[in-house]
Amino acid sequence: MTPMAGPLEDGSSHDTITDTSAQQPVGSAPIVELVGICKYYGNNAALQSVDMTVSGGEVVGLVGDNGSGKSTLVKIMAGYHQPNSGSIRFRGEAVSFKSPADARARGIEVVYQDLALIEDLCLWRNFFLKREMWRRIGPMRVLRKGQMMEVCREQLDGLGLLHIRSLDQAASSLSGGEKQSVAITRAVHFGASLLILDEPTAALSVRETENVLKVIANAAKEGLGVVYIDHRLDHVYPVADRIVLLEHGRVAASFTTGEKSLQELRELVARVRPDPQVMRHR
Ligand SMILES: Nc1ncnc2c1ncn2[C@@H]1O[C@H](COP(=O)(O)OP(=O)(O)OP(=O)(O)O)[C@@H](O)[C@H]1O
Ligand SMILES: [Mg+2]
Repeated sequence: MTPMAGPLEDGSSHDTITDTSAQQPVGSAPIVELVGICKYYGNNAALQSVDMTVSGGEVVGLVGDNGSGKSTLVKIMAGYHQPNSGSIRFRGEAVSFKSPADARARGIEVVYQDLALIEDLCLWRNFFLKREMWRRIGPMRVLRKGQMMEVCREQLDGLGLLHIRSLDQAASSLSGGEKQSVAITRAVHFGASLLILDEPTAALSVRETENVLKVIANAAKEGLGVVYIDHRLDHVYPVADRIVLLEHGRVAASFTTGEKSLQELRELVARVRPDPQVMRHR
């Protein structure tokens, strides 16, 4: 995390878009670059000409009011939606994700709060889901259970999760934050390049939130790019290297957390004006 900047200067404009491309950490190549992304739902322009870059090792905090387009933007990054126009580059190569599987094949992982793990499946099976280790005994394929449990134990040991008694217990016995921590650790372990978290701490206790934020920061230290959406600015700001503020489907501001303080961010968010699309229909 970067140090806080001083107070907002009088008269600064909400429309100011800070070009942070020159301020990205040295050596961190862009993982995903979105250029001029537009997305319409019928006549409703959910995203209008959005540019956004996420580099390895950085946490981008994506903030904005309800309906400002945050989820739509990350769904486009994750292949759930296709943009109406604009382009996506992944590690410098032009790509077009037709499905979530396309994005996942590039190592773009979304961790959903409720769907982080499969509830009825035990922890080690969840950890290795669709990536199981097998060995052959004659014509038979047998799971390498011992080896998978060992890896899983190594990976989860450092998380300090309270409710893990055994790796054979069902994921349903973990708290929401613990499930997310396991899912994030799994994504890092299997080489994800971009991690997307949409309101991961919405229903978590203070302690759980702290744990999840730590796991997010660690993922970035491992070199992943992280996009972290949260309404609560005091959650997203401390863990973010850069903030992108969306307003009515447009980027209203983009800056490093070294450039503006949490208070300045709050002031920017508080100045949101009525949606011009809604005004037109009055
Ligand atoms: N599947 C959909 N069909 C039609 N309109 C949609 C759909 N998903 C989103 N929208 C509209 O697109 C706009 C952006 O929505 P989006 O869900 O991306 O916002 P958000 O910033 O994630 O909001 P929140 O903070 O409430 O989660 C809103 O006007 C919303 O009503
Ligand atoms: Mg949303």
